[in-house]
Amino acid sequence: MNVVVFASRKGGSGKSTLAAHLAAHAHKSSRPCLIIDADPQGSLTLWHKLRNSGEPPLKTTQRGVADIIKAAKRDGIEWAFVDTAPNMSTSVTDAMRAGTIVVVPCRPGVFDLEAVRETIGFARAVRKPYAVVINAAPPRRQDVESPMVTQARESLAELNIPVWGGQITHRTNFSLALAQGEGVKEYDADSYAAVEIGRLWSAIEKSVRAIHGAHAGVVMHRMAA
Ligand SMILES: Nc1ncnc2c1ncn2[C@@H]1O[C@H](COP(=O)(O)OP(=O)(O)O)[C@@H](O)[C@H]1O
Ligand SMILES: [Mg+2]
Repeated sequence: MNVVVFASRKGGSGKSTLAAHLAAHAHKSSRPCLIIDADPQGSLTLWHKLRNSGEPPLKTTQRGVADIIKAAKRDGIEWAFVDTAPNMSTSVTDAMRAGTIVVVPCRPGVFDLEAVRETIGFARAVRKPYAVVINAAPPRRQDVESPMVTQARESLAELNIPVWGGQITHRTNFSLALAQGEGVKEYDADSYAAVEIGRLWSAIEKSVRAIHGAHAGVVMHRMAA
């Protein structure tokens, strides 16, 4: 079973947003997924209540992520998506420990980089593979990345922090879909937002295959040294 943990001590970076859209994107009968809401703020729990299907299933916990994952494995769940609180509490490090990969969403701004550095430090301390995903970025223009995004990439590279090569753009569809209890693929399958989530999902799948030794190409993550 694969466990994707979304973490950043910075509130508003996009943990809940990415967790919800990816879970809704990935879940199907042949690939049963589970959402674990480990953030007392309960954003994913709220979103999940709005979903008519109740799928993928959601569990709420703060200190019991490892136990939920153990049970989910027995139940045949293949992927779990864990949302965490915007801090560096034991609850968050517990979730990281139970994870396969830690995804750190980051808005391209100076203050976020500090938060990222600290969060990455925790992923390294618990020896988990990790990668940053640039979220809520200004759009690419004529297929050229915004200078703000390029600058964020450069700053992260200086800190030796691995970053996904794609970006999740700031798009109202991401918020509008969540407000309806949907993922962007369900909200508008042909939208750019849905394409971006699809790309991020492929990158995560590839990383996880590499972590399991089943893929040798380029990946977005780095292993903790
Ligand atoms: N790519 C995006 N485009 C538009 N709005 C976004 C995007 N990512 C996040 N948001 C909005 O920003 C706010 C904070 O995001 P959220 O996922 O709740 O952050 P976190 O869980 O890290 O605190 C939410 O209102 C969300 O809808
Ligand atoms: Mg959140």
